[in-house]
Amino acid sequence: MRTVVLNVPQVSELPDIGAVLDRWQSDAGPLHLHTGDLGWYSLRGAEATAQALRVWRCQDRILAIGLLDGENLLRLSVDPDLTHDDVLARQIESDIDSSDRTASRTDTSVFEKGTAIVEARGAIRLCDLLKTRGWGNDEPWTPMSRDLSLPVEQSDIGVDVAGPDGAAAWTTIHWSAFRGVPYTADDRQRFVDRWHTMMSGPFSSRAQCLMGYDNSGLPVAVATVWSAGPNRPGLLEPLAVHRDQQGHGYGKAMAIAAARRLQQLGSSSASVCTESSNRGAVAAYSSAGYLPRPQVKDLRRGS
Ligand SMILES: CC(C)(COP(=O)(O)OP(=O)(O)OC[C@H]1O[C@@H](n2cnc3c(N)ncnc32)[C@H](O)[C@@H]1OP(=O)(O)O)[C@@H](O)C(=O)NCCC(=O)NCCS
Repeated sequence: MRTVVLNVPQVSELPDIGAVLDRWQSDAGPLHLHTGDLGWYSLRGAEATAQALRVWRCQDRILAIGLLDGENLLRLSVDPDLTHDDVLARQIESDIDSSDRTASRTDTSVFEKGTAIVEARGAIRLCDLLKTRGWGNDEPWTPMSRDLSLPVEQSDIGVDVAGPDGAAAWTTIHWSAFRGVPYTADDRQRFVDRWHTMMSGPFSSRAQCLMGYDNSGLPVAVATVWSAGPNRPGLLEPLAVHRDQQGHGYGKAMAIAAARRLQQLGSSSASVCTESSNRGAVAAYSSAGYLPRPQVKDLRRGS
């Protein structure tokens, strides 16, 4: 009987974990946790990223990698050879469940008591087990991807790769798109620092932050692309257009530019997953040639 053990990795293990996650990305497989997701999380720093990871191993072999993306959300990838593996699924299910029963948190606890959400798109056996235990469906998400074996047209807007000097403009646009509240000097300093942390962190070699400009040279849109290596799907996370500039085709143009950039990096496809309720995002990606795959739902325990 194999023994599957859960642990929280050290910072020094992050490059190896990223390399394993890269190998698990394929166009034939699900759009599951990507190295780019760890990269985007690493805005919080390498130590916080390691602390948020849960890794299931059998001796030296990594079998599953989970990212606690917030207290209640575990985003999980399993080794594509083990999607139906009963031993692994039961161990993960038990670790998720025992962390609910444990009165005091341990270092490897997964969830606090109460509401919990698991995103485990390729972990078929685990999802079956969780459903048997009463977990229900959460909100639908739409995975989308653009095949990069075909030519990608030139984008309509000027786009370049944002270096350290572009961090303030890049974060301003992101903040405006996602927050829409005033960007104070403190907010700016914090976000710019985090951007530098990410872009010098353990996954930064896979990332390119892109900035798109209108005809007058004003930065209006941003995106980050994450390569998982040649001939594997790359990830677009995030995409954002300044709130004052939305609805002018910049989102579409930026999604095309991101696909083109991933193609130059050797990716087989450009992938993204967005909440199905985000109609603007689904429309912008569709307009940029990304094809929707069937909707996927996370699993939820509690209300
Ligand atoms: C999603 C987002 C990037 C779209 O950018 P945008 O510049 O406003 O979109 P575009 O003007 O390029 O529109 C592209 C297409 O989507 C359609 N569209 C845009 N917003 C839409 C909406 N809210 N509802 C329906 N369709 C919409 C446009 O009509 C256009 O369609 P067409 O090409 O067939 O004419 C932008 O709204 C944004 O930054 N939102 C906040 C952040 C976010 O949700 N990012 C995506 C998830 S990571």
